[in-house]
Amino acid sequence: MRIVIINGPNLNLLGARSPEVYGTATLEDLDAACRDWAHDAGCEAETYQSNHEGDIIDRLHAARDTDGVVINPGALTHYSYAVRDAIEAIGIPTVEVHISNVRAREPWRRVSVISEVCSTTIYGRGIVGYRDAIRHLTARAAWPVEIIAYGPHADNVGDLRLPKGDGPHPVAVLIHGGFWRDTAARDLLDPAAVDLTRRGWATWNIEFARVGAGGGWRATTADVAAAIGALLEFGEGHALDLDRIVLIGHGSGGHLALQAAANMREVPISAIAALAPIGDLEAAHAAGIGDGAVESFMRRTPEQSPDRLVAASPIKNLPIGIPLLIVHGDQDAQVPAEISRSFAGRAADEGDTVVYHELEGVGHDALTDTSTTAWEKVVDEIDRLR
Ligand code: DQA
Repeated sequence: MRIVIINGPNLNLLGARSPEVYGTATLEDLDAACRDWAHDAGCEAETYQSNHEGDIIDRLHAARDTDGVVINPGALTHYSYAVRDAIEAIGIPTVEVHISNVRAREPWRRVSVISEVCSTTIYGRGIVGYRDAIRHLTARAAWPVEIIAYGPHADNVGDLRLPKGDGPHPVAVLIHGGFWRDTAARDLLDPAAVDLTRRGWATWNIEFARVGAGGGWRATTADVAAAIGALLEFGEGHALDLDRIVLIGHGSGGHLALQAAANMREVPISAIAALAPIGDLEAAHAAGIGDGAVESFMRRTPEQSPDRLVAASPIKNLPIGIPLLIVHGDQDAQVPAEISRSFAGRAADEGDTVVYHELEGVGHDALTDTSTTAWEKVVDEIDRLR
């Protein structure tokens, strides 16, 4: 697989240009990192930068014989219909990347005239966004995906991947993490979705409103419930086994999985795999996770809103009544393992069936990173839930 990484105007100044916004890596560093990430993902990347719209369009045309494009068009994003037309014309899967959080800066940066013709848009993750874009392209090439809308908003969509065979297939609902923020999206679980699909699961990797783009404790949990509920509508037509639905959530997605199971009884969920979940919002807030993440999600501090805690914190809703698999790395610097340790203990005390694994020497992201031995353990445990 061959991909092209294209950077637009002013990105040659990376490292020197507003490092507080764009970081300290230079374009050279970025290009080298992209080649390494591509290599790790099993593909080859060519890199290109230009300050000229016409040259970028020519480079896009020349990319017609490749398998994917990652493009950060710089300010051209916000007004270049010519770049948009070129992306549409070449018909190669293209990912739009921005280093900064364009949704949280000047209003004119929120407009992208190219998003619609791109397979996804990644922003606000620093240069790691290019790595995620490469992984997204390789995952898209590895297994066919059907994107299904479950509601009226742009984020009310999910990726359905079906395993080989006639089915009915057990279903894994994947709920991504990222502290409920809009800079994180379901592409984070693309590689995990592909791996689970290969192993015989139908995977439903869902998107939902996140904080910064219409989300918050009510809207986000409502979207997740709607996305899970949609399985009842399209499931039979896709040979899904609706008696074998497992929710798999990572970090804040683990929180959403647990809370969805506690809130909704109309969908028969057979198990939950919560990976480094934020099972207790109060404890997570007290531990200061994610730079104010709990407060942004709840729009209040836990002390200010005991009612919201009952509505939104899984530990307040025990027993969940569904078998729980909880996995946490003991080196998790984003969500302390202590939260899962006490959550698992409390859930068991309240009568839930709980399997808790604390993985030694493992951090937060490794639990969904398909290149790690932690993932192998996680996926073995998940396979037992089918
Ligand atoms: C950018 C954001 C654009 O608004 C800006 O004009 C850039 C860089 C980013 O990577 O965050 O040049 O695309």
